[in-house]
Amino acid sequence: MKDWIDFGLVRDFSAEQTNAYRLCTKSDGWAERYGPDALISYKTEATRELILHELNEWSLLASQPFERIFGRLLPKQNSERNAPQLIAGDAAAPLQRTVLERNVYYALDFGAGYSAGLFLDQRENRHFVRRMAPRRLLNCFAYTCSFSVVAALNGGSTVSVDLSQKSLARGRENFALNSISMNEQRFIADDALSVLPRLARKGELFDAIILDPPTFSRSRTGKAFQVEHDFEKLLMTALEVAEREAKVLLSTNCTRLTERTLEVMGRFCLKASRRAGIFTPSASLPDFPPGAGARSLWLKLR
Ligand SMILES: C[S@@+](CC[C@H](N)C(=O)[O-])C[C@H]1O[C@@H](n2cnc3c(N)ncnc32)[C@H](O)[C@@H]1O
Repeated sequence: MKDWIDFGLVRDFSAEQTNAYRLCTKSDGWAERYGPDALISYKTEATRELILHELNEWSLLASQPFERIFGRLLPKQNSERNAPQLIAGDAAAPLQRTVLERNVYYALDFGAGYSAGLFLDQRENRHFVRRMAPRRLLNCFAYTCSFSVVAALNGGSTVSVDLSQKSLARGRENFALNSISMNEQRFIADDALSVLPRLARKGELFDAIILDPPTFSRSRTGKAFQVEHDFEKLLMTALEVAEREAKVLLSTNCTRLTERTLEVMGRFCLKASRRAGIFTPSASLPDFPPGAGARSLWLKLR
């Protein structure tokens, strides 16, 4: 079926203990699997209907029944974002679910807001962090702390920073789901742009840093973060807490920024901070067509 992943890939995901992945990508929407549930994201009602029809067809052909189907509108304005609505399935079933990615558990909540709790387009970057096994990971804009969880699984200590206390609480839940000791895990509910200089003043250093900010946000004090305007400032301060050979993830969902722009910003910051490094692309995702999902690359300092 055009735009849908093939059944071989479904078997591969299942073999590696992953049950959360992108099912189809179209110009005006997409469908994703989260364990036994499916979520359709759409810009128009026509796209919603088309994907819903094809999802039922795909599910039959692939012998992959879904317990529930949720839908959410992709609005033009962030202020119009709403939690997914149930399209089919048991309305009385809990909205909380646990999914698996390469044998790691993540808690989802379809009632928590626009995003259920795990960004599937970061799967290969999480895998990269897991294989890297950093000693100290700084996860800025941590959301539900998925990057921190994979770092901690290999014994790393982590610092997760996010404006949202609620998201960090969900992050703690993800640690608990994977039976990770909390001794070496810190959580800071604050603006990343004010936390980074504080960590730098204390002389803290990290061998892995995740920078995956939203396109736009406003802190409790009303301070605005706009990724095109603030990414360089963010990276400059992150470099102050980066160990000599640290690896830094530069990632954005902002459609106006490309990998090339991220690299240009990165090179500018390296020069300004008199550091050296190389840029390597993130591994591609087998379930995302080129250009879909976050734009990201790794800066490996030298
Ligand atoms: C795109 S999500 C990050 C996704 C995360 N990297 C992941 O892969 O799961 C953006 C997160 O940044 C947080 N955030 C927004 N502005 C922030 C700021 N100035 N400082 C810290 N966190 C911020 C939001 O609360 C949200 O959880």
